[in-house]
This record gives sequence, structure tokens and C-alpha cells, in this order.
Amino acid sequence: MKENETEPPPRPMVQKPADRVARLHEEYVLPTYARFPRVFVRGSGSYLWDTEGKRYLDLGTGIAVCCLGHAHKALAEAIAAQARTLLHISNLYYHEWQGCLAEELVQRIGEGKVFFCNSGAEANEALFKLARRKGHKEGRFEILTATNSFHGRTLAGIAATGQAKVKEGFEPLPPGFRHVPFNDLDSLEEAISPATVAVLVEGVQGEGGIHVANPEYLLELRKLCDEKDLLLLMDEVQCGQYRTGRFLSYQRLLEGEEEDFQPDGVAMAKGLGGGVPIGAIWVRESYADLLSPGSHGSTFGGNPLACAAALKVLEIVEKERLDVNARELGDRFKKELKRLAKKYADYIREVRGLGLMLGIKLAGRDEIPAFARRDAPPSIQFVRKLHERGVLAIPAGKRVVRFLPPLNLTEAQLKEGIDAVASVLEELSSSDSAS
Ligand SMILES: Cc1ncc(COP(=O)(O)O)c(C=O)c1O
Repeated sequence: MKENETEPPPRPMVQKPADRVARLHEEYVLPTYARFPRVFVRGSGSYLWDTEGKRYLDLGTGIAVCCLGHAHKALAEAIAAQARTLLHISNLYYHEWQGCLAEELVQRIGEGKVFFCNSGAEANEALFKLARRKGHKEGRFEILTATNSFHGRTLAGIAATGQAKVKEGFEPLPPGFRHVPFNDLDSLEEAISPATVAVLVEGVQGEGGIHVANPEYLLELRKLCDEKDLLLLMDEVQCGQYRTGRFLSYQRLLEGEEEDFQPDGVAMAKGLGGGVPIGAIWVRESYADLLSPGSHGSTFGGNPLACAAALKVLEIVEKERLDVNARELGDRFKKELKRLAKKYADYIREVRGLGLMLGIKLAGRDEIPAFARRDAPPSIQFVRKLHERGVLAIPAGKRVVRFLPPLNLTEAQLKEGIDAVASVLEELSSSDSAS
């Protein structure tokens, strides 16, 4: 360096792409989500890559959405082809894809009709309006839902949701929702009032921590609803769309007894479009006229893009027999989790779920010394440890870790996921015995 030269200024710090993304969110995005500090840039099949180039096995699929994994070639091509043909025209006119998709759904559920929207919350909202219409002349409007349920984040959705935490600070909520214990027919029967018009339940509660409906409960519920002239509505937003091995979870739960059980309405979304936003309700034929012309609507609902994507998803699932895969790999996944629960009984209290919708209930924070040192609930701490090992799973409440892998998960990927779970448990166990 010459004498007259000052020291060169420090090199500008190159901001990491992940930091920049986080800063943009901090500055411009409403802070409604507690996000994990991971920024993803691309996906392929069952894997995602972050800005650091690290690869993750995605056992969460965007909360049960990307049922074919990421960047599925045939789905991507169908979406691109549709975008080049016709994206949107509104529901002022007809296009062929909406009717074709409705036909496909009716074929999988039963005689009835379909309304399209854009999300799970909107699908449930349509079911609430259906119920209001049914009871309107008699002054009945109340819908009974289950404790621990989740039905979306609209005002009526949080009113319907059987979890206090989603309602806080949003009162007064729309009237007409009451919660009863899940899988408990006596409590439900007791709760029916002269204003009750419908019952809404999930086949497998997802957000509530993976609780599966008892088949006998569903059969008895159907009888009770017939007896009391109540609509039986199923929220299949998370547990439907082949996740449990059949198109809808109650079809799997009631195999062999399907003739005795047909709901009056079903809400669907999430996996239906494989990542393209779409929601739908199916309504049994006898109630299909309740939502008459002008009574409900959605600008985007059932647009050509969303319908073409959903048609392609259904075609791929059928062609590749992913329903069978979801059932077989789901059974194996559950067996492996149960094996781990036995080996690490101090950490896993229960394994629950059906098909590729599984959850492990962890011990309490204070029962796991390695977790007791930090504030975060066990589910979050466990998921963070999976992230370190390149695996994504999803917390449900404070103590449940959920696995919602793509329906085309392979045996090798299943083993990779189980090995990561086992490695977290082994770390907990050795750090606890060392302390
Ligand atoms: C059972 C159930 N219903 C409704 C919803 C709401 O769906 P969305 O987030 O698409 O509005 C969810 C979302 O997790 C769900 O799990």
C-alpha cells in the first residue's frame, strides 16, 4: 500500500439471500405466521432445496397440499398448457373443465352436485351457508362441531373451529356454532337443541393433533342425523383427496360399510389441485337445490386453470395407483413409528393416524430434559431437529409432530424419514442420559 493511500474500505457485506427474504417479510408482510427460518428456492419430487443448497425430504407437503410432490412433470405441463389456452373467464360463462371436474368428484363420492371455491375455509363457508339455507324456514341455524377441530380462518371458520386459541381477540363471532367432544355420540345427542340444523366433523382431525374418527361413531352419527333431520357434513379438507388411501377418509374408515354411510355435504381443498389453490363442496342430490342461483359465488371458483390442474392430479393418482401407495406406505410408516415409540417410550407417547396422515404425540416439555431448557413446545423443538437432519414435518399443537408426505413417496424416502426421526430420538436419549 502506498503512503498516500488510505486503507481500502471493508468489502460490502454480501447479504445472504435468506436474510434478504426474511427482511422483506419483516418489513412488508403482516406477521400472522410464526415461520421456521428456512427459505426454499426449488423442489423436485419429494425434495425441496433452500438458499444454502441444502436438500430436505418434504414429509409435510405444504400441509397436505403437494400430493404429487414438487414440480411433477405431467402436472407442470398440464398447468402450462392450460395457461396457454385459458386461465380464467369467471362464472358468468361456461367452460368444459369445471363440469368435467365436478363429474369426476361426483363419481368418487356419490350422486350429488359440486360447488367450486379456492380454499378449505371457503369450502366450509359454503357448507355453513348450505346448512343455514336448510334450516332457514324453521329458524334452525346451529352447527355442532368437535372440540379440537379445525375448519379455517374466516370468521365463521374460527367460530366453527373447536379450539379457543384461534378465536382470541376476534369476538363477537358469528353465532350458531357449538363444540362437542369428538367421537362421543352421547354428548352430541345431548347438545342438540331446537336450533340445531347440522353436524360438521373431520374424518381425521389434522390441526387438532391427528385424531381419527371411530367408524362406529360415524355410522351412529349418520343414524342420529337422519332421526333428527340434521345435515351430516364432513370436512375432508386435510384428510381427503386420497391421503388416507381412499378418496375421502370416511370411505377408508368405513370400508365394507359404505352403503350405510353417505354424508350430506363434503368440504375439500388442499391436495385437490396438487398445489394450485382450489376448494370444493359436494352436496348430496337431495339438498343440491338449496344453494339456488344467486345464493353463493366466487370469482375465481372453479376456473379453467384450477380445474385443469385438479383433473390432472386425479388422473395421475389413478394411473399411478397412488391410493394404494398411500395405504401401503402409510401402514409401513405407522409400523415404523410404533417401533420407535416402543424403543423410545420416554419421548413418544402415542402414534396416531391413517394412511399418509400420521402423527406422533411427544412427551411433555418437562419430561424431555433436552427440551425443558428451551421455551418452545416439544413439537417445535422436535421439528427443528428434523430440519437439521434435512427432513420437513409439521407441528400440530404443542406435542404432536405430523407427517403428511406426498402420495408418491418411495420406500427409500420412507426409510430416510424414519432414520431421521430415529436419529432425533437417539440424540434426545443420549443427551438425557449424559446430563
Ligand atoms: C380440516 C381443515 N379444514 C379447513 C382448513 C382451512 O383450509 P384453508 O387453509 O385452505 O382455508 C384446514 C386447513 O388446515 C383444515 O385442515
